[in-house]
Amino acid sequence: MNFKTVQTKPIDGQKPGTSGLRKKTSVFRQPGYLENFVQSIFDGTGGAAGKTYVLGGDGRFFNTDAIGIIIRMAAANGAARLIVGQGGILSTPAASNLIRKYGTDGGIILSASHNPGGENGDFGVKFNAANGGPAPEKLTDAIHKETTRIAQYKIAEDDIGDIGKIGSFTVGSTQVDVVDPVDDYEALMQDLFDFDAIRALFAGGFRMCFDAMHAVTGPYAKRILEGSLGASEGSVINAVPSPDFGGGHPDPNPVWAKEVVETMEGPDAPDFGAASDGDGDRNMIMGRSAFVSPSDSLALLTAYAHLAPAYSGKLSGVARSMPTSRAVDLVAERLGIPCFETPTGWKFFGNLLDAGMATLCGEESAGTGSDHIREKDGLWAVLLWLNILARDGRDIVQLRADHWRSFGRNYYSRHDYEEIPTEDANALMSGLRAKLPQLPGTTVAGLQVSAADDFAYLDPVDQSLTEAQGVRITFTDGSRVVLRLSGTGTQGATLRVYLERFVDSGGDHAQDVQAALAPVIEAAEQLAQIAKHTGRSTADVIT
Ligand code: G1P
Ligand code: ZN
Repeated sequence: MNFKTVQTKPIDGQKPGTSGLRKKTSVFRQPGYLENFVQSIFDGTGGAAGKTYVLGGDGRFFNTDAIGIIIRMAAANGAARLIVGQGGILSTPAASNLIRKYGTDGGIILSASHNPGGENGDFGVKFNAANGGPAPEKLTDAIHKETTRIAQYKIAEDDIGDIGKIGSFTVGSTQVDVVDPVDDYEALMQDLFDFDAIRALFAGGFRMCFDAMHAVTGPYAKRILEGSLGASEGSVINAVPSPDFGGGHPDPNPVWAKEVVETMEGPDAPDFGAASDGDGDRNMIMGRSAFVSPSDSLALLTAYAHLAPAYSGKLSGVARSMPTSRAVDLVAERLGIPCFETPTGWKFFGNLLDAGMATLCGEESAGTGSDHIREKDGLWAVLLWLNILARDGRDIVQLRADHWRSFGRNYYSRHDYEEIPTEDANALMSGLRAKLPQLPGTTVAGLQVSAADDFAYLDPVDQSLTEAQGVRITFTDGSRVVLRLSGTGTQGATLRVYLERFVDSGGDHAQDVQAALAPVIEAAEQLAQIAKHTGRSTADVIT
């Protein structure tokens, strides 16, 4: 095997965002672009020499080529061993599990999550640390620093073995083990959940529809739901991963996961509907004609997690990202466990999970997970729901209605304004930030402001401070508006407006969500002057 050192120059803009480096696929395919970033990952994390990494991706366009390049670079940099998903496929949660199970030094995951794929779509590269979680800020900063001063990268020149076949080959002195992507993940799920109870549920005629959205979860869901648990054949739809996700947008929300939504609203709807995203870490949950918001799902999973063997009597605490609704806070309070509020992005949960301070965590963006790995996990959420339904016996819609009756309902919605010119988005945010100190005590759209700040997070484990994480404005009736700019977009800026209104246990929980939120939506508009700054009178995507 011949290795070569290639001279290169820094490429602008290789700064990892909320979840790794995401760019247009065409950008990643420019000569040296991927190579520069991968070499910077190695250099920014103490070098690859003697290390073991997990490697895989969500199968989007360029996945296989990129895996080949990374294998050749890891070998040239002296890595001891690579554990690669067969065909280059690994869901993000499966990769996190492999990193932890085999005690590797980390992993490289190729995905742009729910962003569209294909030649004209998006691509992404994310480094996960030895705990299985997304690299914390200090590592992503170190990697970014390397990208700004890189002068050369190393790569093997010759062809390598076949990653399509399970088995092992070597590249120089690096051993490459190609593994089944599902086996270890399924074993973990069997440890966590009551598979017998779920089998009995399906045997009793329970029906579900899981939309894999032509993305990576297809093979996992087929094998576990239809194979091991006995869901009827055809319960998993769009199960074959395709490089452009069937031309769709693999984002599991009611806007993009239309097929399962139509099925769940149809005349012969199954009992339970779900979907997962491009790389398998997000989830959408539905009952018959009922979308369960991710914030409500987190609250309900926390309230009933004790029905799953792994969580019975074991909830140390719960964590949610700041914009996520405060429904779970109420459950945590009743359970007498702490509830942590973190900035957006899964990486902020890592320390709490590692320290045993939180067991479950979640984000309003359809991410839910636990301390079983260090990523959110779409299929895990579906299995926990199935475990709960199997053991509880109630229909999911009934369960949720009973929950609201007991805890009250946090009406919740997110309004996204996409591809706004960056200067306009920045002007909106800085205008809003400037007036925060004057807001408390004032009345906007009939709502009185009780607090207004720009969220800063002091990590209780390592005391690191993360500032400017989004503006939050709270009103005296418990309603709340949060505004922040996305850190995962690849074009212009995306403004996210998060809206929440609390209706107490005795109140009306059957209102239309947008109607219930109308005063909060009006307050957000008056406070941030969204129409003026964006030139748009309504959001592009409402979830
Ligand atoms: C989005 C979500 C966030 C999630 C991230 C990665 O980030 O809002 O909750 O952790 O994707 O999946 P954003 O684009 O808002 O920065
Ligand atoms: Zn994802």
